[in-house]
Amino acid sequence: MSSPIVEVKNLTKRFGDFTAVDGISFEIRRGEILGLLGPNGAGKTTTIQMLLGLITPTAGSIHMFGKDLSTHREEILNQVNFSSSYISMPYALTVEENLKVVARLYGLSEVPRRIDEVVKQLEMEEFRSKVTRKLSSGQMTRLTLAKAILTNPKVLFLDEPTASLDPDIAHKIRDLLKEVRRSAGLSVLYTSHNMKEMEAMSDRIIFLQRGKVVAQGTAQEIMSRFGQRDLEEVFLKLAREG
Ligand SMILES: Nc1ncnc2c1ncn2[C@@H]1O[C@H](COP(=O)(O)OP(=O)(O)O)[C@@H](O)[C@H]1O
Ligand SMILES: [Mg+2]
Repeated sequence: MSSPIVEVKNLTKRFGDFTAVDGISFEIRRGEILGLLGPNGAGKTTTIQMLLGLITPTAGSIHMFGKDLSTHREEILNQVNFSSSYISMPYALTVEENLKVVARLYGLSEVPRRIDEVVKQLEMEEFRSKVTRKLSSGQMTRLTLAKAILTNPKVLFLDEPTASLDPDIAHKIRDLLKEVRRSAGLSVLYTSHNMKEMEAMSDRIIFLQRGKVVAQGTAQEIMSRFGQRDLEEVFLKLAREG
């Protein structure tokens, strides 16, 4: 097994005397889709914000590509991208114009070719000239994903990428993400509180509760360790036992 792309050790974030993330450790391997699962308030977004260097950890370390994020920030973040279904963007622009803005911000070369590639990969042909404001929620999710992969990142952090989607479209997005992962060898960390989705989509799952890792492994491993038939039941069992 190759060395991990992302290595997190004893990561902790306190806001005043409240501990949002409490000494968590995990790694993300090359080409892996890792799911960060947990109820609202578990510490998922706080974890992603630390991985993106947006907030400073209270304790612990983050290494990516073998380097320390606190000392190699720019070099690391150049190879990383992020998407959230809650991010806003210039809604008056068309889909294609939005992608051009991102391409320019990152100084990409061969912009038209790269935009064509991503539009094809995420099956956005029929709405590439549509004004962003008029997109359906599934189309909007595809655009946010397209913006995130346009820059050819090696690691993608997705905070609730399927949050506002109906189940049908969420399934489609999952397939597209798996396809991107396959073709680009990308590593993905994504968060969700939807256990069915996690089960279907992740190679491995980190189960967070009140800032702590309460279980990790493949969905199968977690279910058999807790003697349950699905993740929902594992979750209920953990909640009952506090
Ligand atoms: N800037 C902040 N100041 C104080 N508390 C915060 C701040 N950001 C997050 N929290 C708290 O930390 C906990 C974890 O939040 P978050 O990481 O957003 O959880 P999740 O994404 O899993 O729903 C929550 O109780 C939240 O209220
Ligand atoms: Mg969150």
